[in-house]
Amino acid sequence: MIQRSVPVVAVLAALLAAVPAVAAAQADAGGAEVTFTKDIVPIFQRSCQVCHRQGEMAPMSLVTYQEVRPWARSIRNRVVNREMPPWHIDKNIGIQKFKDDPSLSDEEIAMVAAWVDNGAPRGNPADMPPPVDFPDASEWQIGEPDLVVQYPTYEMPAEGPDLFGAMYTELDLEEDRYIRAIQTRPADDPSRRVVHHALSFAVHPDEEQMRAAGDDDVPAAMFLVEYASGKNGEVYPEDSGLLLEAGRKMRLDYHLHSIGEEVDAVVELGLVFHPRGHVPEHIRWSKQLGINNRLLDIPPGKVVRTDSYAVLAKAARLTAFQPHMHMLGTYQCLELIYPWPGWTAQTETVSCANFDYNWHLVYNYEDDVAPIVPAGTILHIISWHDNTEGNRGNPDPRNWTGDGGRTIDEMGFAWIGWYDLTDEEYEAELAARKARQDAATSNQQQ
Ligand code: HEC
Repeated sequence: MIQRSVPVVAVLAALLAAVPAVAAAQADAGGAEVTFTKDIVPIFQRSCQVCHRQGEMAPMSLVTYQEVRPWARSIRNRVVNREMPPWHIDKNIGIQKFKDDPSLSDEEIAMVAAWVDNGAPRGNPADMPPPVDFPDASEWQIGEPDLVVQYPTYEMPAEGPDLFGAMYTELDLEEDRYIRAIQTRPADDPSRRVVHHALSFAVHPDEEQMRAAGDDDVPAAMFLVEYASGKNGEVYPEDSGLLLEAGRKMRLDYHLHSIGEEVDAVVELGLVFHPRGHVPEHIRWSKQLGINNRLLDIPPGKVVRTDSYAVLAKAARLTAFQPHMHMLGTYQCLELIYPWPGWTAQTETVSCANFDYNWHLVYNYEDDVAPIVPAGTILHIISWHDNTEGNRGNPDPRNWTGDGGRTIDEMGFAWIGWYDLTDEEYEAELAARKARQDAATSNQQQ
């Protein structure tokens, strides 16, 4: 069992001290010095500047040396503790290949640490790579949408705490349509600076009233797309799509923060559809699975593990894992329990991730490693909630906490994205993977 009370920071620090790369980078720092222009800028361009540049949501720009230098200490801290860039997948368990993974390698972390420890030197200006040309935020990355949905304007005060909540809007859709590409974005530059994250859902038309009345039996929502990390446009693979049913409403779960000036924040959703009447070969589902809310029983001062399960009736390819908890949530795992006889291993932990309520991160598996599972596979979701004082996110460790919709109540489930497969498609994909694996092994042996 995974022990959650070990302070991650201490473990990481110990690990880093033991990693030869650190020693190498530090030795390097003596001879060929680690410099901003040569070594650090490429890392920041790939993993930081998408958020840390003018007009984006992060609090400061990390583009020029003048901008970066005052933050060197803080950068070292955040990077060594793997808090920045925000990416919370456990690197020691399960699948490690994801789309749009911004996380730093151990070597890159060691490089940043060595650079700061050595006084954060600028280096030779001639080594500076050309600046990155980020896509124009006013253009849709998915092409011209067939439908644009605008959520209500949020009048964000100049100062105040971060705000979390949900807002609803009508969707004028008279017939079912399949989405081919989708994108959420803040509608303009001031909105971009206050929107920390925003998740869009297609929901039952009465959800808002039912939630307000405290009715828990709201029919399941369908998660559509998130805006958080610069990756905000999604085009589905060839002939696949997400079903958007007529009569649904849209919900936006938002996290906004004040920036010292009043902003009318507007978030919009762009949808590109398959042609009317076309049913794509593969339908992508995205639902809350393994909902354990009713089981949650988190006494004051305790760390609690909760297990929940969901059965997949058909064979499937899992495309995405996104833990969902609230402020006490700290860690979640997805384990697959295969039907027997079937796979060679009967259970497999495919992903674990630390959890921080400030960041709702979706982990999209790389196509060649996305789990493919036979019909009857059980998804086992294991959630940890930490109601001790040691949990920085804990609003009040004296409170018993359980299921509920408020931010200070708890939840524990995963959003899972998947495509159904026929048994034949599953067998074919399994055989193709085995063949690829065999080829890779025999290559290694040669
Ligand atoms: C997905 C967007 C995103 C990415 C990518 C990202 N950051 Fe951040 N960063 C933020 C936001 C938002 C904050 C402020 C909220 C917080 O502290 O979590 C922040 C805070 C920070 C802070 C603390 C600032 C303070 O006020 O003390 C540092 C340092 C930092 N980031 C460095 C980095 C570095 C270095 C990278 C790349 C290796 C990086 N960040 C990647 C969004 C991002």
